[in-house]
Amino acid sequence: MPSEAPIGVIDSGAGGLSVLKKIRELMPNEELIYVADSWFAPYGEKPAEDIRRRCFENMGFFDLQHIKALVLACNTATAAAVKELRALYRIPIIGMEPAIKPASELTRTGVIGVMATAGTLDSDKYLDLQSMYTDKVEIITRACPGLVDEIEKIEPDEGEIIKLVTEYTEEFLDRGGDTLVLGCTHYALISDIIRDIVGSNVVLVDTGMAVAKELRRRLLENDLLSDSLKTGRLSFFTSGNVQEQKALLSRYWGEEIEVLRYLNFILTI
Ligand code: DGL
Repeated sequence: MPSEAPIGVIDSGAGGLSVLKKIRELMPNEELIYVADSWFAPYGEKPAEDIRRRCFENMGFFDLQHIKALVLACNTATAAAVKELRALYRIPIIGMEPAIKPASELTRTGVIGVMATAGTLDSDKYLDLQSMYTDKVEIITRACPGLVDEIEKIEPDEGEIIKLVTEYTEEFLDRGGDTLVLGCTHYALISDIIRDIVGSNVVLVDTGMAVAKELRRRLLENDLLSDSLKTGRLSFFTSGNVQEQKALLSRYWGEEIEVLRYLNFILTI
């Protein structure tokens, strides 16, 4: 039976908007609830155990919204918690991981780069994925401390972002890399800056649309796609300061949006 229930989309902050945009583009009639866990951001350098616990706390809010599917629009949260969340919840849960597979098919030099958080790169999930491709391509990984913090600032310093991206892509460029995986949803928000730095010969691989397509496939498979002919409602929530997050999320979303505060709590698990 088609379902008009909302879809939950979550990230530590604004990064998941890069995925939300693609979902909106592909399925404009679905109702979407976006959660920016700004108070707990950034996730990238926190212990996996803390992120996992936080994901379950945030699910308390989504439970109250009766979501029909969840998109973890965050590589770090996926690496830390997707397995445990899937074990507890029956709804489709779509996670994300750095797009090594498409990158290894696209590269001509045989050298690809992966920019991601330390939490993602250190995870067993990522290391298992990477090990499937190390005999085919050379993979230059780079954790990017400080980059998400800068992107999350109410007034980001573009000079600082340029400095950090230049530093974090240096080895990849020096080694002849031609395909760069944006393994953190926040980096897709600054893809224009990254492109300027690495040059137009480098292919940037972002998984936003692939995740949106996977979401649609899972909804279809579970008979959960909306059959509404109207544009779906879109709401934004934050665990951080509402006024600040309204300014920040509006800037990255590209239009003025309302942002509400959500409360999270832990279920007995
Ligand atoms: N946007 C998230 C990701 O895709 C995490 C960023 C962070 O909070 O460090 O990994």
